[in-house]
Order: sequence, then C-alpha cells, then structure tokens
Amino acid sequence: MAFISSGYNPEKPMENRITDIGPREYKEFLPPIIEKNFGKWVYHEIVEPGMLMHKAESGDEVYTVRCGGARLMSVTHIREICDIADKFCDGHLRFTTRNNIEFMVDSLEKAQELKKYLNDQKFSGGSHKYPVGGTGAGVTNIVHTQGWVHCHTPATDASGTVKATMDTVFDEFQNMRLPAPVRISMACCLNMCGAVHCSDIAILGIHRKPPMVDHKVLDNICEVPLAVAACPTGAIRPTKVEIDGKSYKTVAVKEERCMFCGNCYTMCPAMPLSDKEGDGVALMVGGKISNRITKPAFSKVVVPFIPNEPPRWPTMTKVIKQILDAYAEDARKYERLGDWANRIGWERFFEKCGLEFTEHLIDDFRDPAYYTWRQTTQFKF
Ligand code: HEM
Ligand code: HEM
Ligand code: SF4
Ligand code: SF4
Repeated sequence: MAFISSGYNPEKPMENRITDIGPREYKEFLPPIIEKNFGKWVYHEIVEPGMLMHKAESGDEVYTVRCGGARLMSVTHIREICDIADKFCDGHLRFTTRNNIEFMVDSLEKAQELKKYLNDQKFSGGSHKYPVGGTGAGVTNIVHTQGWVHCHTPATDASGTVKATMDTVFDEFQNMRLPAPVRISMACCLNMCGAVHCSDIAILGIHRKPPMVDHKVLDNICEVPLAVAACPTGAIRPTKVEIDGKSYKTVAVKEERCMFCGNCYTMCPAMPLSDKEGDGVALMVGGKISNRITKPAFSKVVVPFIPNEPPRWPTMTKVIKQILDAYAEDARKYERLGDWANRIGWERFFEKCGLEFTEHLIDDFRDPAYYTWRQTTQFKF
C-alpha cells in the first residue's frame, strides 16, 4: 500500500508531540446503570453458567453474560463484539482479567436472549465465537502468552496449546460442577509472563539443551558481564577463543551446570537455545492467588517434560484431563486443587492422578531446596 501520513513530521519528530496522557478514564465507558449504582452493590448471584446478577441498593439489577475469547483477536472479531454490544447493550462491554468478554444488560429476559445469541455464533471451521461460561466452580479462560506468534524466547506455543487444552476441558467452561474454580495458565518460557506460578494447573515451555554460543559475533552484540550475571547457576564465564588465527572475546558455558533457563539468551542474542526435539512443556499444579481459607501458594512441578506435539499437543491435554478428573472426583467442596493435594499428601496426589514421580521433581536449587524435602516420618505407603 502507498504511504499515507498521519500528520507526523519525521523532519521535526518532537513537534506537536503528545505524551504522558495515560489511559482513558474508565468512567467514560461505564454503562449508565453501572455508573448510577457505583459502590452501592448489595449482593450477587450466579444465575446460570456464564450469567451473573448484581443487585444494587436502588433495587436495580445488572445481568452480566460472560463469554470466552481467544485473546489473540482480529479487528474484524472486535468489530463483531462491538456490533453485539450495540445490538444488546447500548454499545457497552468489558474484558475480564482472564480475557473473557462480558456484556451487561438490565433484565433476565434480555440476558437469556443474549446468551442464546452468543452461543449460536460460530466460525466457519465450526468453533464457537462467543461460548458463554467461565463463572463459578468451573474452568475459565487460560491466561497465556505470545509463543511462536510473537516472542523470541519461547520453548513452546501459547495460542496452540491453549486452544487444544480449552477444547479438551470445554465442558467445564460451560458448567460449574467442580469442587472449586480451576485456573489454568500457560507461559511459553520460564520468564512466566502471566500467572503460571500461581495457578491450579500450569503449562510451561521448557528447554533441555544448553545454549549454542556464536563466538564470532558475541562480543559485538552482547555485554559479556550481563550474560555472565544472567545465569542463576553461575554456568557462564568470560573467555577468549581462537578461530582461524583470530582471537575473540566471548563466553564459555559449563554445560553440566546449565539448566537451560534461557536467561543468557534474553541478555545476549549470540546464545540461542531453542531446539525442536529438546523443547517441550512441563506441568505444574496447586497454585492460587486468593486468600480464601488457605494462603496464596505457588504451583509445583508435577510433570517434568512432555514433548511439543503441534498442532494439538495430545499427550499434554491427556495429562491435564487426567489431573482435572482426579481432582474433580476426589476433592471436597471449596477445595482448590492445591488444598486437595496438601490435604491428601503429594504421594497420594501422584497415585490418584496416575503420574510418574521422577528425580526431576525434587528441588535442587540452592538452600531453600532443603525446605521442600520431607523432614518428618509422616507419610503414607
Ligand atoms: C524477553 C522478554 C519479553 C518480551 C520480548 C516481551 C514482549 C511482550 C510483547 C511483545 C507483548 C505484547 C504486547 C502487546 O500486545 O502489544 C507482551 C505482553 C505481555 N507481557 Fe511480555 N515480554 C517479555 C517479558 C515479560 C515478563 C518477564 C513478563 C512478566 C513478568 C511479561 C508480562 C507480559 C504480560 C502480562 C503481557 C500481556 C499479555 C496479554 O496480552 O494478556 N512479559 N510482552
Ligand atoms: C495491589 C496489587 C494487585 C491487586 C490488587 C491485584 C488484584 C488482582 C485480582 C483481583 C485479580 C483477579 C483474580 C481472579 O480473578 O481470580 C488479579 C489477577 C491477576 N493479576 Fe493481579 N493484582 C495486583 C498486582 C499484580 C501484579 C504485581 C501482577 C504481576 C506481577 C499481577 C498479575 C496478575 C495476573 C497475571 C492475573 C490473572 C491471573 C488470574 O486471574 O488467575 N497482579 N489481580
Ligand atoms: S513466557 Fe517467555 S516466551 Fe512466552 S511471551 Fe513471555 S518471555 Fe516470551
Ligand atoms: S541457559 Fe540458563 S542456566 Fe544455562 S547458561 Fe544460560 S543462563 Fe545459565
């Protein structure tokens, strides 16, 4: 397409420059009924899966219909979302902290009509465009990252693993029959953008091979001390190498100390490590961020490695389903997945989920690893 100027003048980049204006004030976008009853809500109910009712002091009722979103969206899709909001909600809508979409109306009849309309919309491939659900004790949207769509450090894909997983657990998105909500999150490398470290079930991209070092260019494109300091295990040291009679300043990686975190690559483009066969996913479970009954908790690694199997990751989705089913069957009401595992004991958790326990799961990172071992005779055979 031919260039079309927005009015910006590259000769005078600072002229007419607007800066530090921040986001639009959220109050500009409130539906009138939300604005009117702001701070005056009395109670709420989950009317049915995907539908909430909030009652205000004034007697006003707001019905919220929540539907799934793929997070990665075209403008065409967003325009369709706007069309729905124009048709049913006077042009108002919002997105949740888990990237679901919420439409608000003022009566049960309108909410039910809207829910039906949303559930009827399909892509040409057959997938739901706006599946209604995500409330109460079910599985809601998967908080996820960029993967092979946009980032340069991933060990797996985000949108692909998430679509495969949501297809597998779709019934739980549309129902509320689990003991408590199950948050599934995904991150494509252990930078853990998002919520993998604090979710009931987490998918995490991992490497299994040390970085390759491009000695010839390293000193030109990296700050060597930053690469050295990036390593959590001290596996990297500065060094010099001779190639074709020329001396290069570079780094050496002690491979038996490297645990393939990829941090050095984030700092230094001359140390790439992604690998088709080496890379895959680890599964973690038992994290949560709320303070309800028990403290917030980190998720723990329970499956050290599952290979990448694009496009549907069948082994990974099978294991996730296995964990979810064992929890759904055995946990008590209100017990989050981690609460359940802690109560029955992790040795029972592995048994009930049919997971293999390997040495990879035993913490060996610095002094705190010691506190994860068992300093008691309390255990079950
Ligand atoms: C190599 C390092 C990283 C790169 C290159 C990177 C790059 C990006 C990019 C390009 C986006 C999308 C922005 C957009 O949609 O316009 C993004 C989103 C995001 N990043 Fe990162 N990021 C990095 C590390 C991190 C880390 C360490 C965290 C958290 C501790 C993080 C948290 C997030 C979150 C929460 C989002 C928003 C995701 C969403 O759309 O829901 N990122 N990042
Ligand atoms: C005082 C500060 C903060 C408050 C009050 C806050 C509050 C919340 C709340 C209420 C949720 C929704 C929980 C749910 O739906 O279950 C949430 C989700 C989330 N927050 Fe925060 N947050 C804070 C700081 C942070 C920080 C510093 C990070 C990142 C380092 C973060 C990352 C996230 C992510 C990734 C989610 C989505 C995860 C999920 O819903 O399970 N938050 N936050
Ligand atoms: S988790 Fe890692 S690979 Fe994925 S988007 Fe974040 S930094 Fe990139
Ligand atoms: S991948 Fe991680 S552990 Fe390995 S050398 Fe790089 S920073 Fe160190």
